[in-house]
Amino acid sequence: MNQDELKALVGQAALQYVVEGEIVGVGTGSTVNKFIEALAAMKGRIPGAVSSSNASTERLEAIGIPVFDANDVGEIAVYIDGADEIDPHGNMIKGGGAALTREKIVAAQSRRFVCIADESKQVPVLGRFPVPVEVIPMATQRVIRQFAALGGTARVRLKEGRPLVTDNGQHILDVAGLAIAQPLEFESRVSQWPGVVTVGVFAHQKAAVCLLGTAGGVRTLQY
Ligand code: A5P
Repeated sequence: MNQDELKALVGQAALQYVVEGEIVGVGTGSTVNKFIEALAAMKGRIPGAVSSSNASTERLEAIGIPVFDANDVGEIAVYIDGADEIDPHGNMIKGGGAALTREKIVAAQSRRFVCIADESKQVPVLGRFPVPVEVIPMATQRVIRQFAALGGTARVRLKEGRPLVTDNGQHILDVAGLAIAQPLEFESRVSQWPGVVTVGVFAHQKAAVCLLGTAGGVRTLQY
């Protein structure tokens, strides 16, 4: 199976975690796009979704699933999303699709995070994938220096030669060269730096379950 087929496999497998009659939290990315395609089969059995990006909202609405504002719903039963990396404890790096802030908001509002990923995302220690960090543009250079002091090399993410602008109107730094052995501590620390909107380490909002797409089928990991 190629990577695309593995993503489709876990996207389909995630349906078993969607609670009938309840709103589902929906992440962002190519794996989640497969989940959204599969979710069409449950249309009418769930009231709708809370979405983590404009891109996912468009896809959900295109298949007729109503999208609610997070402020208009209470606790969400389950949040389904992909990851750029996941460690053996369910801590993740996320934000490769620049949606990390809304992803963390919806994850925090949800009882259970179900991560869907192909096996290439499994790592012993987070950090091989550059950590995405959403920043207020005026803080960019100072935050870059703060990462340099930790041994990281941060670059502003570009789109068509200009800084990428997120759904929230901010910029993204991608920080390479970090080995994040203490994800909870790292997330807490960086989150306090002035100008950091969200750091793409999900340790406070880690996965409860990971559906991992492997050549032998879907492996279910619990944390
Ligand atoms: C989006 O901002 C990310 O957090 C995605 O969840 C992550 O990048 C995984 O994306 P893919 O499923 O496309 O690999």
